[in-house]
Amino acid sequence: MLAAFGIFRIDREGAITHTSRSLLLRTDVPNSMHYGARSWTVTGSWRAWEDLDAAFHGKVPHEVAWGTGRFDYLRRIPDEARIFDAFMANFPDKRHSVVAETYDFSKARLIADIGGGNGETLRRILALYPATRGIVFDRTDVVAAIPRDALAGGRITTHDGNFFDGVPADADIYLLIRVLHDWPDDDASRILRSCRAAMQRDARLLVIEGLINPDPCYGSPTEYLVDMQMMAMFGSARERTEAEFRELLNSAGFDLTSVIGTASPVFILEASLR
Ligand SMILES: C[S@@+](CC[C@H](N)C(=O)[O-])C[C@H]1O[C@@H](n2cnc3c(N)ncnc32)[C@H](O)[C@@H]1O
Repeated sequence: MLAAFGIFRIDREGAITHTSRSLLLRTDVPNSMHYGARSWTVTGSWRAWEDLDAAFHGKVPHEVAWGTGRFDYLRRIPDEARIFDAFMANFPDKRHSVVAETYDFSKARLIADIGGGNGETLRRILALYPATRGIVFDRTDVVAAIPRDALAGGRITTHDGNFFDGVPADADIYLLIRVLHDWPDDDASRILRSCRAAMQRDARLLVIEGLINPDPCYGSPTEYLVDMQMMAMFGSARERTEAEFRELLNSAGFDLTSVIGTASPVFILEASLR
């Protein structure tokens, strides 16, 4: 079947060989789809999609399928959680390296990556800014799984916690990368308020997300697929337009100061305290 779709080729002797598409399933190629193929088809995600129609009745497909929320499920099933973390760190949008290369972090002494997964963005930024330190803040099992040798020689520290309760104080820059799209507006606003409470007056918040175009004819197809994945996993969580992010930030006491396009599908939305 895969050969029929041009993924693998079967030669006259019956030997199975690579094609340019199957090579994308390897880990050692640019824009590898390996991690995405594993994460999107793993049982937790697959079963939630089977209940997608629950979303039309105001329910959360993942909760209907599994009787619990997505992140609680991941906490209970470590194998799938680590597949998800690896997918985030190796997402084929190259967002981690692109963010490090695009934004000027030179004045930042300390950067806090909130919901920072396994710390890939901070490793990329700190590699370019040797005087900067970082905090990766995420759920307990996620930060516990980060190997010591992935902490940039001690320049990255890990903090576990729940961003609805609060986040570490005193960083110069706060990052929220592909975090808000996991949450409906009320919860997204609570996460923003947690950041706001931790920030000094001159600190900056960078919300880094895809921006969905209201007209799909002009948008990036991946963003609509991610939007559906958010519906399957989190119900009314979703991708947002620039105007929706502006409104969300305003509701939590921030001003959107600039929107920076990148070489990845993600945009950097820079915000300061109002
Ligand atoms: C879509 S992933 C994005 C990861 C990373 N920022 C990136 O761009 O690769 C969302 C992250 O939010 C974290 N998260 C979810 N709920 C959380 C909570 N209540 N407190 C802290 N982190 C949480 C998840 O564990 C996950 O690492």
